[in-house]
Amino acid sequence: MIYVWESHSGRDSKPMLSVTDIVIAYSGNKQGTKLESALRGPMSKMLPATENLEIIAWVRKGAGKEEYDARIKGIFDERCVVCHNNRNPHLPSLEDFEGVGQVAQQDKGADVFTLVRVSHIHLFGLTFIFFMVGFIFSHSYFRREWLKCVILVIPFISIIIDITSWYLTKIFEPFAWAILLSGGVMGTSFAIQFFVSIYQMWFYKLPAEGERH
Ligand code: HEC
Repeated sequence: MIYVWESHSGRDSKPMLSVTDIVIAYSGNKQGTKLESALRGPMSKMLPATENLEIIAWVRKGAGKEEYDARIKGIFDERCVVCHNNRNPHLPSLEDFEGVGQVAQQDKGADVFTLVRVSHIHLFGLTFIFFMVGFIFSHSYFRREWLKCVILVIPFISIIIDITSWYLTKIFEPFAWAILLSGGVMGTSFAIQFFVSIYQMWFYKLPAEGERH
């Protein structure tokens, strides 16, 4: 949970973890490209505002090659290539169309192959942990057996909803809510399993046979 928080919060440049952060992580940032954020932020002082707006308008229109050759390349050459060139491996090169394309691409979020890889890791790793902790938890004493069963299966159901929603968020953004909620529910029920099991193993004395119901 701490890791999820750390790796996703702030993507929308606000400190807390929000649904927007999750949408950006999985489906990308519709508001802009790396180039745009740089031109609005740290690189805004490198060129006059009019040229800045010209570049942004060009990116918004899809960063086409024709207008690049006709006009935009000139601005990059004059204002940016001193630092952003093929000889400097630490900065994206803005010397040619390919280099510019790297930062002018629409941010599409995590690609499907990354998601497949991470799904695989999650499905094997987490379900195994849920199984082990759930097995221990299944021996705990609950007055209401049905409640115990619910808490036991929730992590398995929510991990399926969670992982499915990663892909669905790419198609339909409101599924980010499903990611957030299923993650919260998963964490909560897992925490209950963990603490109830530890508590009952170490501190709790079962009520006498006749007093259980
Ligand atoms: C004086 C050198 C210099 C000039 C001129 C310059 N940049 Fe940069 N640029 C940097 C440095 C250093 C960084 C990395 C540090 C940072 O992000 O503040 C950077 C970062 C960037 C990034 C972000 C890269 C990333 O991977 O996130 C972009 C995009 C960018 N610059 C575009 C431009 C554009 C467009 C221009 C011309 C209008 C320009 N820069 C002019 C030095 C420069």
